[in-house]
Amino acid sequence: MADTPSSAFRGGATVRLVEAPSDITTTPEWTDLLAVPRPAHLRELFAADPGRAERYVVTAAELRIDYSKQRIDDAVLAALLAVARAAGVEQRRDAMLAGEPINVTEDRAVLHTALRAPAGVAMGPRGPDGEVVDAVPGVHDVLGRMGAFAERVRSGSWEGATGKRIRTVVNIGIGGSDLGPAMAYRALAAFAHPDIECRFVANVDGAAISAAIDDLDPAETLFVISSKTFTTIETLTNARTARAWLVDALGPSVDARVAVASHFVAVSTNAEEVAEFGIDTANMFGFWEWVGGRYSVDSAIGLSLMIAIGAAAFAEFLAGFRAVDEHFATEPLERNGPALLGMIGVWNRNVLGFATKAVLPYAEELARFPAYLQQLDMESNGKSVRLDGSPVGTATGPIVWGEPGTNGQHAFYQLLHQGTEIVPADFIGFANPSHPHREHHDLLVANLIAQTEALASGRDRPDEPWRSFMGNRPTTTILAPELTPSVLGSLIALYEHIVFVQGVVWGIDSFDQWGVELGKELANRITPELTGPADAVARGQHDPSTAALIDWYRANRRA
Ligand code: F6P
Repeated sequence: MADTPSSAFRGGATVRLVEAPSDITTTPEWTDLLAVPRPAHLRELFAADPGRAERYVVTAAELRIDYSKQRIDDAVLAALLAVARAAGVEQRRDAMLAGEPINVTEDRAVLHTALRAPAGVAMGPRGPDGEVVDAVPGVHDVLGRMGAFAERVRSGSWEGATGKRIRTVVNIGIGGSDLGPAMAYRALAAFAHPDIECRFVANVDGAAISAAIDDLDPAETLFVISSKTFTTIETLTNARTARAWLVDALGPSVDARVAVASHFVAVSTNAEEVAEFGIDTANMFGFWEWVGGRYSVDSAIGLSLMIAIGAAAFAEFLAGFRAVDEHFATEPLERNGPALLGMIGVWNRNVLGFATKAVLPYAEELARFPAYLQQLDMESNGKSVRLDGSPVGTATGPIVWGEPGTNGQHAFYQLLHQGTEIVPADFIGFANPSHPHREHHDLLVANLIAQTEALASGRDRPDEPWRSFMGNRPTTTILAPELTPSVLGSLIALYEHIVFVQGVVWGIDSFDQWGVELGKELANRITPELTGPADAVARGQHDPSTAALIDWYRANRRA
């Protein structure tokens, strides 16, 4: 028999991996879900049952999650939770926390939750005999090394090759090795060291690295090369350009090896490639294959963030994740924020048929949060086959997009209010700002609340239909006292677990990303065709449109 969720969460518990469960769409619970009567208009639901405003609110750590403006009622919720149970959400959650290899296609454990486990909690992947190989001491060891290094940079005792202190940290990485730290650095700008700026370079477009380094003093610059695999072409190309720029700009009086040793550190799981690049592995901060790229901001991938906000604030960030992990692991599904929001997402996607989802932070600092969630959600759940390789029987992850309020209001909210597509939206806001302009903040939050009311209730104007708002447009409102490191950690963990719940229901592997491979492979093949001699173009291997694009580029490219 499976252990309780809380014992699994403390590690060491034996929880059987639920092998590819049967297709959820073939279960009676799914049939019941499809048959449950669609609730009335939100206006009528609130009029008939004002109590839903309190009943459909759940608290996870410091997050107040209000899902009362979703198109659900008690019957819908009961049917959704029955589906969650039929899909094995609780067992699969426990299997993840217990270190079972639930990333089936890569045969790996999924243990980003171990990155925020306090010392003394045993969590880790399974060893050859099924025993937990405790990873938490290793996690804390790396955190300790990161903290010591961050402190040296922050205090100025880490010196560049010419003895100057570091004033700019340039993180070079892409996908999960960029979006997490870039998003969090911006989100927590109010907590950042005043004299150290962090910049983030992801795109292989030379404009990105140019914009990041052209105005820098190399003697005061530290590059953090972040790549789980250390084979990602974009990151290595940018890192090589940075290395050449640094060595050249420091001039012949500085030995190139000393220059690289003083101005480059690496974050990776691949020590061999790090050494090959020329970075001393003593200056490498490691993590593990059981940390997915898009789940890695709380690993050493967060090094640039830690340099900015300091080790203590980074620990608070991790504590915020952990508080939501505990909530997810221990609360019954009826009071479990990630489970409820995950299942409401299933309702919106699969039953009501809404293909996209907007994330609308009413906090300028969270400007990159929608982009971060795009990778988290779409790389995790943008899948068409189930764990056993069979086609999924229903739609999977929605298209995620968004923009901070109130900017979006003056751009795409017209469609949200009156368009023919219905877009479920998450509104995120804070009681208190990170800046001194209180009146701005009150106005901002008034807009957030007003939008959710307008979307839910609408307004009838039969005489002037163009002024009519249909309403009944579903939203969730997530509020917290203020955007602190711990609140940001909680917010990220909330979405990680929402994505997890939905992946379990759809029976897919939320932790692989095979869909990015083909494009990479073809780009590697096409690069020499663009630059090599004419016979380098493998004409027969391309469709006519692709061959014509290659020809056009070759004809117009200046050497
Ligand atoms: O885009 C695919 C991907 O593998 C992401 O999952 C990952 O976050 C990104 O590339 C970067 O990978 P790495 O950290 O290995 O450079």
